[in-house]
Amino acid sequence: MGRIPEEVVRKVIESSDIVDIISEYVNLKKSGRGYMGVCPFHNDKGPSLSVSQDKQVFHCFGCGAAGNVVGFIMKIRNLDYKDAIIYLAERLGIDVTYTETKDKNSQIKERLYKANLEAARFYYANLQNSSFAKKYLENRGISTKVINRFGLGYSLNEWDALIKFLKSKGFTIDELILAGLAVKSEKGVYDRFRNRIMFPIMDIKGRVIAFGGRVCDDSKPKYLNTSETPVFEKGKNLYGLNYVVKNKLPNNIVIVEGYMDCIKLHQFGLNNVVASLGTALTSEQSKLIKRYVRDVYICYDSDAAGQAATLRGLELLESVDLNVKVITIPMGKDPDEFVNLYGIDEFKNLMNSAIYITDYRIMKAKEGKDIKNPLEKSKFVNEVIEIISKLKDSTAIQHYAELLSNETGLNINVIIDKINKLNLNVDKKNNNLNLRHNIKGNIYNIIPAYKKAECLLLSLSLHNDKLFDYIFSRMSEDDFITSVYKKAAGIIYSKKTNKIEITENELLMNFHDKDDIQDITRIIYNELDYSEDLYKMAEDAIKTIKKYQLEEKINDVKNKIKIYEENNQIKESLALMQELVNLQKELSLL
Ligand code: GTP
Ligand code: MN
Repeated sequence: MGRIPEEVVRKVIESSDIVDIISEYVNLKKSGRGYMGVCPFHNDKGPSLSVSQDKQVFHCFGCGAAGNVVGFIMKIRNLDYKDAIIYLAERLGIDVTYTETKDKNSQIKERLYKANLEAARFYYANLQNSSFAKKYLENRGISTKVINRFGLGYSLNEWDALIKFLKSKGFTIDELILAGLAVKSEKGVYDRFRNRIMFPIMDIKGRVIAFGGRVCDDSKPKYLNTSETPVFEKGKNLYGLNYVVKNKLPNNIVIVEGYMDCIKLHQFGLNNVVASLGTALTSEQSKLIKRYVRDVYICYDSDAAGQAATLRGLELLESVDLNVKVITIPMGKDPDEFVNLYGIDEFKNLMNSAIYITDYRIMKAKEGKDIKNPLEKSKFVNEVIEIISKLKDSTAIQHYAELLSNETGLNINVIIDKINKLNLNVDKKNNNLNLRHNIKGNIYNIIPAYKKAECLLLSLSLHNDKLFDYIFSRMSEDDFITSVYKKAAGIIYSKKTNKIEITENELLMNFHDKDDIQDITRIIYNELDYSEDLYKMAEDAIKTIKKYQLEEKINDVKNKIKIYEENNQIKESLALMQELVNLQKELSLL
């Protein structure tokens, strides 16, 4: 990505007024020193959005959304940092393009986007003129509205219809080959897609980057996709996502396998459906989804969700802390076939009875096992323990351990011990004995106490040099647990010790991720009550952090001692016992 120079970024931010910008989306009313309005980021009728003109930041008391003007544009228009800056710059008439045009790669990409767009228009026009292709879609129950919305098309049954068309539009053969629209063989160059129903694949900005083409009969291959090109990297996009996030963000996203499934569900009014296009989900796709929602439904052909490759994709969804539920369609139908037969309300019923991925895994582990048989029961228990031990959230671990205990009659402590043991072994392998550091807090918007404490400490350090000296004499940036706050602490520390003023908005400029901008804005928005003893507030916050760290260490040591004892490693266990006593003493002195 060609970088926009920092001076330009600064100029764009300083020339934009957050009240003006937010007013375009929200009706703001003056209130005290700032403005209030209805938050566009969650369902609310009351005025929970607060905008500060002095500080040039916004903050919602309802959902916790926060940021500066760039953060707002990123969130509301679904843009990344750079594109949000470009969006604001264009409105202000500030030129950022010169850095881009220098970039030869991006010039080539521009040509490929244009070629793909022209191709999509060509295919679309072909479909309109082909009663045969229109008939096919009609037979499959696809409405004209959906054809238009998704820009469906048809590639003619000729060798070079598209090539001829795009040449007349000024594209070279090399460009068409590079775009994956034409293929070169010994016999010559020909259109990649012939006699197929065409599905344009778009990126999040709605640019056409590739195509999927389906045969209109039973010939093979059923689907043909554009190969990798400079603008189409497999596993980095999801079909339909640009429509899903175009207007108001949905509460959740449904992932299906096929183009047909996706557009058919949209046709029935489910506008939050994307398709993974028959491949296992990648970590890039998971992160992409995470940008917009916290909850996903996965709805694959009956048993596909149980297949190993698919499960790996689901693990990726979980690894970015998405809540994953599995929709199971009965009788081996895919979503398209199901809604054709039973209608959308029945599909919504299936959604309502979708189960969490962990429950789904446990259900699969139980399938075909008779847990009255001791051997099969033991197998079941071990499989479930393996499933549970991969969970990150300690409350969830507890929950499933209890379920397993109820189901099998096994003592809950035995189960917990087994889970700890498994986790410890994994940690040893990874050379990382710090099991508990992987346990994250609640994935919803509940902010853990230590994170609030970190936020307060940074706020105090920014506001007052004496408090800064005090806080950083008691702790260092390394003591911060939350990585975005660790980074902020480092920046504040180096600026302050070099006697450089750091304003809140300067600090914000160092963060380009939407969630990070939100966390940093919380520092700025921390309303300090100056009637309180600020030193005591700082001291309490430092204690909260130290306490958290000590408790984590103690839990760790306890776990290790248990393992040593089980393995009769008395010497090792005694050594740790001493460490445990020291840690507990330290904790009691806090
Ligand atoms: P219809 O048969 O038109 O309803 O399509 P479908 O989406 O139900 O197809 P299916 O469930 O067989 O496959 C799901 C997805 O996998 C498709 O949408 C394609 O993206 C992909 N896929 C299926 N068959 C092929 C193939 O032969 N080649 C490639 N590259 N992808 C395929
Ligand atoms: Mn199908």
